[in-house]
Amino acid sequence: MAKIRIGVFGAYRGMTMIHQILGSSDAELVAVCDKFQPALDHCKEVADGEGMTNVAYYTDFEDFFLHEMDAVVLANYAHQHAPYAIRLLDSGRHVMSECLTCATMKEAVELIEAVERSGKIYSYAENYCYSPVRWEMRERFRRGDIGELMYAEGEYIHDCASIWPEITYGERDHWRNQLYSTFYCTHSIAPILYMTGLRPVKVSGFETQNRPFMWNLGLPAGCAGMIIVTLNNGAVLKSLHGYLKHTSHSNYQLNGDRGAMKDLADGRIAVYTEGENENCRGKHETYEPAPIVAESANSGHGGGDFYTTYYFIRAILGDKEALERMIDVYTAVDMCIPGILAYKSICNDNNSVKVPNLRNKEERDAYRNDTFCTFPDAAGDQYVPNNIHGVEPIPDSVYDEVRRKWIAGEPG
Ligand SMILES: NC(=O)c1ccc[n+]([C@@H]2O[C@H](COP(=O)([O-])OP(=O)(O)OC[C@H]3O[C@@H](n4cnc5c(N)ncnc54)[C@H](O)[C@@H]3O)[C@@H](O)[C@H]2O)c1
Repeated sequence: MAKIRIGVFGAYRGMTMIHQILGSSDAELVAVCDKFQPALDHCKEVADGEGMTNVAYYTDFEDFFLHEMDAVVLANYAHQHAPYAIRLLDSGRHVMSECLTCATMKEAVELIEAVERSGKIYSYAENYCYSPVRWEMRERFRRGDIGELMYAEGEYIHDCASIWPEITYGERDHWRNQLYSTFYCTHSIAPILYMTGLRPVKVSGFETQNRPFMWNLGLPAGCAGMIIVTLNNGAVLKSLHGYLKHTSHSNYQLNGDRGAMKDLADGRIAVYTEGENENCRGKHETYEPAPIVAESANSGHGGGDFYTTYYFIRAILGDKEALERMIDVYTAVDMCIPGILAYKSICNDNNSVKVPNLRNKEERDAYRNDTFCTFPDAAGDQYVPNNIHGVEPIPDSVYDEVRRKWIAGEPG
């Protein structure tokens, strides 16, 4: 059987997928696109080193788009995935999208309809769902070990100050400088939805203030965003993410009516379970679960990076397990739109906002023209600023200094 021909758009984070495709017996890397020539040069060096000398390299998306390929990995800017995904799906390509799925509610509707129209695979590369501990939490939750979910926490605290020059290049309009506090909610919310199969129905958003350690690097937004999410079984999820000083990078926990589970963030899971009439006298366990696929052990983000590309390729091949384990467009949208709607809440004194179930066609019309966001290109006339605290405008000299640090290879 011919190998699946895959193109990758964005060769920075995209290198994670490129490495894996180069090692795949079912897929081949045929094209890479990045407007930043040094990124392409690096990629070519890696691919040539693996004996893949026939890969085509493009700096322009339109040229890349015309290349013969069956599937495309989107690892371009986080707020620009949906328009590219829609074009690629409509041209008959399967798509795997890096985080996030969409920048606006309008794009969420359009993306879902493009997947439905095309019949192609759309898979969301939410790697935080797949570490061995989070997979174990999913398995045990679905087995009923802790009963009905009552409360959950998902935290992704990543103080990016030291790497800000490396990931924003001193560009004022880089998406990481244009985003708002609750935008990048995926790594905190997604694992909980993936474990439980529940969906969000209502959100209230909160954010911290901006502080000099990030303002001095060019970020005007509130540093961290908290979203209180009501799930469709009535449980409450606290999602927290952003740039905070911290003692632990992440926290995922589930509290059910018959037990609880927690990712101890060191490769171990803690589980508490109760039998019938055993209130507060249940069993405690702590252990290190094995990865579901041994090959994943050395991949990034606790092994999670491996599974997104692995299941994408296997899903295209029609593997039922992969189709069940990959993240489809409806769940992907559920993992991201709470962030958009939580910022509406923040802009409206933290009042709660309903989260639509966009699987239902009749719920889509209300959002077809909703471009509310802080990214000017996607927002048009519904643009809102990304800080609500009246933060001082950031002068060009700040971005010039970050750019200087990036070029010099200095930390932020
Ligand atoms: N899941 C994770 O753990 C994880 C980690 C890092 C990044 N990401 C995601 O990966 C994506 C890329 O992030 P990044 O860290 O690589 O930084 P980035 O967004 O700055 O880089 C994107 C790359 O795409 C290229 N690009 C963007 N638009 C282009 C265009 N129109 N034409 C040609 N090239 C274009 C840029 O030159 C750049 O090299 C984002 O969506 C981000 O959220 C995910």
